[in-house]
Amino acid sequence: MKNIVLFASGGGSNAEQIMSYFSQKNTAKVVLVLTNNANAGVLDKAKAHNVPIFVFTKEELNNGFVLRHLQAFNPHLIVLAGFLLKFPADIIEAYPHSVINIHPALLPKYGGKGMYGLHVHRAVLENKEKESGITIHYVDDNYDEGNIIFQQAVAVEECITPEEVALKVLALEHEHFPAVIEQLILNN
Ligand code: GAR
Repeated sequence: MKNIVLFASGGGSNAEQIMSYFSQKNTAKVVLVLTNNANAGVLDKAKAHNVPIFVFTKEELNNGFVLRHLQAFNPHLIVLAGFLLKFPADIIEAYPHSVINIHPALLPKYGGKGMYGLHVHRAVLENKEKESGITIHYVDDNYDEGNIIFQQAVAVEECITPEEVALKVLALEHEHFPAVIEQLILNN
């Protein structure tokens, strides 16, 4: 049984999918949910799954405090599921090739600082893209630039608002993210 830890900053619908998926499996389990946002919806979702939670400040993320807390949970895979702060180098170095992120677009397009949530989907529509999608990738020192693990596209030609694109992309995330995580765990 491998240990997954989740970082999330908001509603946590992906975190919820991942916790539900692995609650039925004997390959891995979610052992900790971490957030920088004390009001994040993900906290109630973690409580509902009896998963321990850890709320931290940006300073604690960057001064080694979060890394020390993580170590007590022996994570095999660290999953960023809607985590909006830059991820610190000390955690990436402590867990090489073990930190992954989901991005709501087809990287390398629409990535980088400030590209999250509706900002991404608005840019996709402004550029009249026919498709968008999801990217699951390893996390390295730069935003959204680590090696790509999985991508899936979806047509957005008929979408008029960024919210419509968001719904289509989120559905893809929910469909694929838990299974991609499981494959990574089984292959390592
Ligand atoms: C997801 O769409 C995820 O791809 C995106 O935030 C959303 C979180 O939704 N992440 C980024 O934009 C990272 N740059 P959720 O809280 O409902 O899982």
